[in-house]
Amino acid sequence: MNAKFPLSIAVLGSGKGSNFQAITDTIQNGSLNARIVCVLSDVADAFILERARRLGIPADYIDPAPYKTKLDGAAELKTIKRLRHYRADLIVLAGFMRMLKSRLLAAFSGRIINIHPALLPAFPGLESWKQALTYGVKITGCTVHFVDAGMDTGAIILQKAVPVLDQDTPETLHARIQEQEYIAYPEAIRLLIDGQCGAWKKS
Ligand code: GAR
Repeated sequence: MNAKFPLSIAVLGSGKGSNFQAITDTIQNGSLNARIVCVLSDVADAFILERARRLGIPADYIDPAPYKTKLDGAAELKTIKRLRHYRADLIVLAGFMRMLKSRLLAAFSGRIINIHPALLPAFPGLESWKQALTYGVKITGCTVHFVDAGMDTGAIILQKAVPVLDQDTPETLHARIQEQEYIAYPEAIRLLIDGQCGAWKKS
């Protein structure tokens, strides 16, 4: 891989940002050769923005209006502009709850990854831990994958499995999956940095 290091990572998130925190912690303890150049959110009061600001990382809200489920139109163009401004090499979706559209995918082709709280291709979409409980599977987990135009369909980088216990509630199962997410996401980024992932390309 022909990358500059530390690798410049932009994080997009809509929620509490615990995966962003796990990646940041791994960078700070010296085991990931990367830096977070910005955090962008489609939710004005998302805690991920607050976490970033406390760490002195540029954190911008991007108004997604008028779209409810996708990043399109003016919001997509603004996002591309911000990502270019901060010279992001890798775009990391961490609880970002919108579908990415073609201009952003083309602008950062092969350089956008996501974490999903299930063992894809099982249970794509929303609240996958609830889908797993409803279906009655005994093992679920998390998946780090490249982002393409589909819903959680891109090439898989790595997965971690967790057991589903008889007494699980949606909350306990999601918490167990998240513990593995905090290990999986830094590990997947390290695979990219180390050139251990064939599908990875850098501009
Ligand atoms: C994570 O569990 C992540 O896998 C999930 O949202 C949570 C975000 O938590 N993402 C999706 O469901 C995407 N389809 P966080 O904001 O604390 O990192």
